Amino acid sequence: MDILKQTLNKNIPKWRKEHQQLLAQNADKTVSKITLAQLFKGLRGVNAIHCDTSFVDPDKGLFIRNIPLLDLIKCSAEEIFFLLCTGERPTKEANQELQNTLQSRSNVPQYVWNVLDSLPQDTHPMTMLSIAVLAMRRESVFDKRYMNGIQREEHWEATLEDALTLLGRLPVLAAGIYRRYIIHEPMPAPRQDLGFSDNFAYLLGVGKYSGTFGEFIRQFVIVHSDHEGANASVLTSRIVNSSLSDLFYCLSGAMNCLAGPLHGLANQESVKFSFRILEEFMGVPTDDDLEAYVWETLQSGKVIPGFGHAVLRNQDPRYQAMYNLANQICADDQLFAIAEKLSRIVPPLLIKQGKAKNPYPNIDGISGTLLYYFGVRDLRFY
Ligand code: COA
Repeated sequence: MDILKQTLNKNIPKWRKEHQQLLAQNADKTVSKITLAQLFKGLRGVNAIHCDTSFVDPDKGLFIRNIPLLDLIKCSAEEIFFLLCTGERPTKEANQELQNTLQSRSNVPQYVWNVLDSLPQDTHPMTMLSIAVLAMRRESVFDKRYMNGIQREEHWEATLEDALTLLGRLPVLAAGIYRRYIIHEPMPAPRQDLGFSDNFAYLLGVGKYSGTFGEFIRQFVIVHSDHEGANASVLTSRIVNSSLSDLFYCLSGAMNCLAGPLHGLANQESVKFSFRILEEFMGVPTDDDLEAYVWETLQSGKVIPGFGHAVLRNQDPRYQAMYNLANQICADDQLFAIAEKLSRIVPPLLIKQGKAKNPYPNIDGISGTLLYYFGVRDLRFY
């Protein structure tokens, strides 16, 4: 944590100066104009937010701190967090230090489980996660320090404290929701020798944490770590934060937005869609049958989950990474066979329909296939 903090301490004054200079020299420069269509269509394509942690190139996909996603696919979650925060790759020592810090903050207090225990049994896991995060808000360091009158320049330090607490607890919380309320099994304590993603895989108790499931979860975390600042859930959290609401409020708000079927719920919808296909054809259909089925779905006004994107206009590298992994480990799986067929059959049909600006599969078109393969069978958890 000290190295992370020191690095931020070194970089933040430099960034502040750069931003001030940029503004001083370009304050009147127009960065976007808004058409009436954009106004009525959710401000799509309008440059309304500044984000330097990552950007999505419409053709090349996600770049994290200017590095293409696929070049970072072997990183640990801790390395990516350090890189996102500071713009620098951590040393081995910094990485280990961050891992230790997150582990030291991994205890989810009993009052949080008590809150979750009191919810109706059919509460959606995403609602549980959002409520749990909001319940922990009473511990916000930012809130306490703000009430004691910290200076604006010190906001980042208090925010970092909250971020580290949240990151330390989230794998335990998410896995705990799965174990306690979905499969109704006790959960072991987090392991001190494992990092963020391995611990999450271990706590979920699906497959072997250090084998391919662990590898999948690590990549899953990396590909979902950031997708520039204006996607619906991140923008939500930034709007919440703009009133100086702390990170607990922000993250809970972001999750509420992510929960929708056009956003994070799309991977659950995508697996459901594949199951409907399997049921309809009593197995994996031929290409011709699948083409007719997809076309009929489109003609009935429904979306094909796991396809399209608001910014991307080409193949999604996040999809590629997960597809490559699936191809290595579950090439003969039925759900994967459907996902593979859909990836070939849907794009020409979306082009033929002429509405979607991006006809290609996105990350949600494949991630659920892998979760199901590994044994996470309750789709609501996805
Ligand atoms: N299936 C069918 N129609 C689609 C589509 C898809 N996968 N993707 C986009 N379209 C349609 C839109 O519904 C819209 O129709 P409308 O004009 O009748 O409202 C039209 O094409 C233009 O949409 P577009 O500008 O390309 O996308 P968007 O920015 O409005 O929305 C998504 C982006 C991601 C919400 C959209 O592609 C979608 O709903 N995809 C399916 C859900 C999904 O996979 N979400 C996860 C994203 S990571």
